[in-house]
Amino acid sequence: MDNRPVENYMPSPLDPADWGDFRKHAHRLLDTCIDHLSEARDHPWCHPVDADCDAVMLGSATEGVGYAEVVDELARNILPFGTGNTHPRFFGWVHGSGLASGILSEIVAATMNSNCGGRDHGAVYVEREVMDWCRRCFGFPEGASGLLVSGTSQATIIAFAVARTKVLGIESRYTGIQEFPKLAAYAASGVHSSTSKALELLGLGAASLRTIPLDSDGGIDIQHLKQVVARDRTVGIQPFCVIGTAGSVESGFFDDLEALADFCAIENIWFHVDGAFGAWARLAESPWKELAKGIERADSLAFDFHKWMYVQYDCGAVLIRDGRVHRETFATRPAYLAGQKQGLGGGDPWYCDYGTDLSRSFRALKVWCALRTYGSIALGKAITRNCELASHMEALVNDSLLLRMEAPVRLNVCCFNAAPFGWDALLQGTLNATIVQQLQLSGDVVFSTTELGGRTVIRAAIVNHRTCNADIEYAISSVLQARNTQMDNHDFIK
Ligand SMILES: Cc1ncc(COP(=O)(O)O)c(C=O)c1O
Repeated sequence: MDNRPVENYMPSPLDPADWGDFRKHAHRLLDTCIDHLSEARDHPWCHPVDADCDAVMLGSATEGVGYAEVVDELARNILPFGTGNTHPRFFGWVHGSGLASGILSEIVAATMNSNCGGRDHGAVYVEREVMDWCRRCFGFPEGASGLLVSGTSQATIIAFAVARTKVLGIESRYTGIQEFPKLAAYAASGVHSSTSKALELLGLGAASLRTIPLDSDGGIDIQHLKQVVARDRTVGIQPFCVIGTAGSVESGFFDDLEALADFCAIENIWFHVDGAFGAWARLAESPWKELAKGIERADSLAFDFHKWMYVQYDCGAVLIRDGRVHRETFATRPAYLAGQKQGLGGGDPWYCDYGTDLSRSFRALKVWCALRTYGSIALGKAITRNCELASHMEALVNDSLLLRMEAPVRLNVCCFNAAPFGWDALLQGTLNATIVQQLQLSGDVVFSTTELGGRTVIRAAIVNHRTCNADIEYAISSVLQARNTQMDNHDFIK
């Protein structure tokens, strides 16, 4: 290759005119970012955003302001205004905490700017390594396939599309589903909303999801499931997928995955597991890891790295037991994407043949960096610690005369009620929601709410490796203080 300098080369104005100057500003920003993350405990969980967002207005953006000004703006106007989930007392929704290794991977991924849809280059090999690690971690056989996606919602769409191909045949890609019998899917009530969204998007409709009540152990009632499947078959509806939940978003319940796998094997139905965060119980110690038993028997598994593996957003994944049907569901190669034996156009299989995205970012690097930097043992210990902290929160709630648990802690989710027992459900819910809002605004603790037993309750999902016992104790005493404030507020009770 001829690497001699090109004469009279004018650098593009989209590259720095002075790379030394760029380096100086980039290093300044890196230091600010490292300070920000290393001091996560010392800041309030977030800074409120100005409603008019003056500071981030782009206007017509016809002229750029250059690197120095942008670095200042990033540090001043963007960085402090995160969701807050890097803070150790952020327990809202299921928001992962982010790792220092992610700063390193994002620098390299941005510099390489790889397109991981396919072709033969280094980033694809990293994704293969990551997916092979996942395959082994979750006990899937060789020949299973998988890819990284934006999150469990996207992973679910891909998994259901493959399940649909399996039952209708590859020709359904061409004919559509109109000529086929109606399909139905089955999941425990409390299954995540992404499940019905996926069914809607695949043209099956949200009504194709049968929600089955929970049994006394808190998982799907298999006897009930059997009846509903049998009833559907008698009226010509084809059961195409049973969804097992490994860690429900509301209370962290697990279905009996072994029993569901047995049922699906007998009934010849695709067995999908939504393991968005709960799948990672597999890396925890006993008794939590036993909850995920049976996950290795799934036909497909959807899970996230950005939740309970602490990896930066966004990063989810799907694993499919039958790699062949996975490829058949998505592979499309117009002429300009034809593969080659060698060269950049080589390197089959390409990830674009396993999902909807042709252009794909180098998500795999942040996972690779996390596994390489910390190792799965340390990550598993952090997961175990989060489960212990949820149990600690449960114990504090049980010790308090003013709070009560709304569901037993099974994993890392703790749902409780701060309202007096005798109040009607609406008033209880209003008090709980008001407490959650007051604490969020205080900048101290973030809980979120959910509905259990017809009441809005306070909910903590602990997926943060920075949280310690003292944070849990502080959080519960903050709830009690906020409760006092609200109960003293006469208007509220009226
Ligand atoms: C159990 C469960 N499934 C699916 C999802 C959707 O995942 P994502 O937000 O990564 O799309 C979530 C999100 O919280 C979840 O908790």
